[in-house]
Amino acid sequence: MKKYLIEGTHEIDRLAFQNKIDVYDLKTELASFNWKFDDKVLDAGCGSGNLTQELIQMGIQKIDGIDMSSERVAFARERFSSNKNVNIYKANLEATGLEKSSYDKIICRYVFEHITEPIEIFSELISLIKDKGKIYIINFDDIFFGFYTKNHVLNKKLIHLKSKLPQDFEIGRKIPQLLASLGLVDIKWNAETYFFKEQRLELEITNTKMRLEQGRSTLSKYFDSLSDYDKFCEEYLEEMKDPNNVLYANKFLISAEKSLIGKILSLSK
Ligand SMILES: C[S@@+](CC[C@H](N)C(=O)[O-])C[C@H]1O[C@@H](n2cnc3c(N)ncnc32)[C@H](O)[C@@H]1O
Repeated sequence: MKKYLIEGTHEIDRLAFQNKIDVYDLKTELASFNWKFDDKVLDAGCGSGNLTQELIQMGIQKIDGIDMSSERVAFARERFSSNKNVNIYKANLEATGLEKSSYDKIICRYVFEHITEPIEIFSELISLIKDKGKIYIINFDDIFFGFYTKNHVLNKKLIHLKSKLPQDFEIGRKIPQLLASLGLVDIKWNAETYFFKEQRLELEITNTKMRLEQGRSTLSKYFDSLSDYDKFCEEYLEEMKDPNNVLYANKFLISAEKSLIGKILSLSK
């Protein structure tokens, strides 16, 4: 099974911390989409269940969550153990084992920047949506890599790392076309650029430190040695403190509808 890029024992804490930074505000993100109280929703790549929790607070009742991490699935199961309308499953999104055509809405937040096989995962998720159901994607392009510093050796290391990683850190901008190629209709997308400055930057420095610590075992493989990785982390975190260095990320909010008629028409073209 493929490994999550920043798998570490404190990833649940990091996700909780990240959720408090305005850039990652769940309420605003979820308000961009249409919800009905009686929707049956799948939170795909649910992690520790922060999004599921927000959906419950919005009054949505029937929610399933799915993630491949044993640790986060165990945490989420415990978190929602008193709610019989919430089920948490452990599986890879490539082959979920969930019932086909059974969800009104599928939401997938901050997952596609971590995966290496988007078409397989989209195909699986689409198969789980009812006819006329929707898929909602929240995704960051350029997260971590949207950085330009006065340290040109570090800039080069960042370009090198991005080119070596199998994940696509610019997948957000490609998702609308990808969904169209898979026969989805009524595709809507929006993108917003976030700059990390002042207090937001302070919080992102802590978030990045946690990310780099959680990712040490996975990310260090792309460096000559662990000490090279540690040096890279030290330099990155140090450069984050310089207000003249630019750090930004682009958040994509994408929605699309599954239409059996649309699919048939696209196949007949
Ligand atoms: C950055 S976390 C986001 C968690 C959650 N969506 C949230 O917004 O708090 C990404 C999650 O996607 C999960 N994930 C990544 N690739 C996956 C895959 N192929 N199958 C299942 N889960 C996956 C990871 O285990 C991780 O919990």
